[in-house]
Amino acid sequence: MPMEILKTVQVMQKKAHEFIRQGLKIGLVPTMGFLHEGHIELMRVTRKETDKLIVSIFVNPAQFGPDEDFDKYPRDSEGDIKKAQLAGVDVLFMPTADEMYQGDYQTTVHLDKVTRGLCAISRPGHFDGVTTVVAKLFNITMPHTAVFGRKDYQQLAVISRMVKDLNMDIRIIGVDTVREPDGLAMSSRNKYLNPDERKSALCLKKSLDLANRMFEKGERDAALIKQAVNDLIREYPFTRIEYINLCHPSTLEDINTLGDETILALAVYVGKTRLIDNCLIK
Ligand code: PAF
Repeated sequence: MPMEILKTVQVMQKKAHEFIRQGLKIGLVPTMGFLHEGHIELMRVTRKETDKLIVSIFVNPAQFGPDEDFDKYPRDSEGDIKKAQLAGVDVLFMPTADEMYQGDYQTTVHLDKVTRGLCAISRPGHFDGVTTVVAKLFNITMPHTAVFGRKDYQQLAVISRMVKDLNMDIRIIGVDTVREPDGLAMSSRNKYLNPDERKSALCLKKSLDLANRMFEKGERDAALIKQAVNDLIREYPFTRIEYINLCHPSTLEDINTLGDETILALAVYVGKTRLIDNCLIK
């Protein structure tokens, strides 16, 4: 079956109802486009788990702050369409902002505690934008399963919490971060890095490796691990640390002493580009 490209909410919902009537399991991969191997991996996982693969491409204005990169966020509709076709996508949902936020739009989905720390500190309102658009995409595409990358760890935790709190009957799957051969986590924003910054960007993955090594050698003091990561990042030019956090995997609350499972989450500016990465230390 050739891939269908749908642009309106009404037609997308009609299609989803049709799949459900046929007894087919729907899988959704929500994206903001500029597709890379990380997104393709999400699609592969979804394909295996479901009968119909829907991918949404929507650069959501509601999750960008006034001084953020909404206008220059990389876009490549033609390239994305080709990549989606190759990945075996059944339906590509590509709405406009006017289509998604029609008329006198006034609803926001807001979560409390899990949206307080980490990225939320420098990006106030960001997760309200994410949860609102993801809730809308769920209502529009009616998935049984939705798949997200673990690179945006807080986003995955927030969406998992929302689905639980709002009794949405959707299975959320988190997929491991796909990396370049040298370890840099794949991200649409890597495009902003010049060659020297690209080299410095490796400090994020090196930090995760360092923290894991310290843990393996028996270090459990969060402050000492953070200090070592801080020192490592500072050795790389063009870097500015936004946060280095050791936190609980689902509540995202800070921890002082590492236990069985801890998330190390980082946000680091390299030049003007803000990069995030994380790992589970266990
Ligand atoms: O991770 C993203 O690309 C976006 O935050 C998402 C989940 C598609 C919501 O706009």
